[in-house]
Amino acid sequence: MKTRFTETFGIEHPIVQGGMQWVGRAELVAAVANAGALGCITALTQPTPEDLSKEIARCRELTDKPFGVNLTILPSITPPPYAEYRQAIIEAGVKIVETAGNNPVDHLEHFKPAGIKVIHKATTVRHALKAQSIGVDAVSIDGLDCAGHPGEDDVPGLVLIPAAADKLDIPIIASGGIADARGLVAALALGADAVNMGTRFMCTAESPIHENIKQHIVTADERQTDLIFRSYRNTARVAKNAISQQVIAIEQEGRPFEDVRDLVSGARGRTVYETGDPDAGIWTAGLCQGLIHDVPTCAELVERMMSEAEAIIAERLVGFAGATV
Ligand SMILES: Cc1cc2nc3c(=O)[nH]c(=O)nc-3n(C[C@H](O)[C@H](O)[C@H](O)COP(=O)(O)O)c2cc1C
Repeated sequence: MKTRFTETFGIEHPIVQGGMQWVGRAELVAAVANAGALGCITALTQPTPEDLSKEIARCRELTDKPFGVNLTILPSITPPPYAEYRQAIIEAGVKIVETAGNNPVDHLEHFKPAGIKVIHKATTVRHALKAQSIGVDAVSIDGLDCAGHPGEDDVPGLVLIPAAADKLDIPIIASGGIADARGLVAALALGADAVNMGTRFMCTAESPIHENIKQHIVTADERQTDLIFRSYRNTARVAKNAISQQVIAIEQEGRPFEDVRDLVSGARGRTVYETGDPDAGIWTAGLCQGLIHDVPTCAELVERMMSEAEAIIAERLVGFAGATV
C-alpha cells in the first residue's frame, strides 16, 4: 500500500506507533520498525538526554529499519531540558521526530537543517494548519477517542479527520480509536495517509509493560476510560480505575490541581506498568481497548492489519461499488 505517508517517510506500511510515556522504549519501537511500520521512542521516558542517546543506540542494535523519536512538549513549572533532548536526537542521527503537546517552532529550527522530518501531533484543525504553516512534514491528528490528551474541543476522528483533510496539503496521520484494519481503511477513506496507534501497540508481546495490564486492556471494553483534568483545561483520557474516579470527584468539588497532584504523579503511573496493579496510579488507555482482544507480536499485528485492510478494500468495498454500478 503506497500513500503520501509511506512515500514521504520511507516506511513500508502506513502505520505509526506514536509516543507513549513509559511504554515507548527500544524493544517495542524496534519490533514496530521490524514489522515495517514507524515506531517512536518516547524521549521523556528517559530520565536524561544521555539516557535517550543510549536508548536510541539500543534500538539500533535491535533493528536496521528507520524509527523516530517523540518529543512531547508539556506545560510544566520545571520543564525538562528540551534543548538537550533535542540535541541528543540530532546527534544520534535520527531522521524522523514526532512532536506533540505544544507549538514545535523552536525545535523545528534545529530539526529541519539536520535533515529531520517532523510529524506534529495536533488535536484541532487550527493547530494542524499552524503546524503546516511553520513547515512540519506531516500532522498526526488525535480525535476525542484517543488515549492521552484529546484537547478541549471534543471532536471525534470521524469528523476531525475529514475536516483536517479539507484544509491541509501535507500528509495526515489519523490518530485515536484505531486498533484494527477497519479503522485503517476508514481513516484512509476519511482522507488520512496513515494511522497512529497507541493503545493497540501497548497491548503487544514486545510492549515493555506488565502482562496484567495487557490482560486488563484485553478484558476492558470501550466504556472503561475516564476524562480527567477537564476542569484544568488539560483533559486526559486514561484507564478508568479507583484513582481516576477519585480525581474526577475532587475536580467536581471545584478543587485545584494541587489537591490531585500526588494522586496523578508520573511515578505512580509508572508503577502500574511495572507491578501490574491497575489501581496503583493513573495510566493511559483509549476507547479502542474495546476492540482489542489479544496480545499479538508487532509483526503479527501489522501483517494482520495490512492483509485485512486489503481484503476489506478489495472484497467488501469493491463489492459495494459493484452493486451500485
Ligand atoms: C500509555 C500511553 C502513553 C502515551 N504517552 C504519550 C506521550 O508521552 N506523548 C504523546 O505525544 N502521546 C502520548 N500518548 C498518545 C499516543 O501517542 C497516541 O496519540 C494515542 O494513543 C492514540 O490513541 P489510541 O490509543 O486510541 O490509538 C500515549 C498513549 C498511551 C496509550
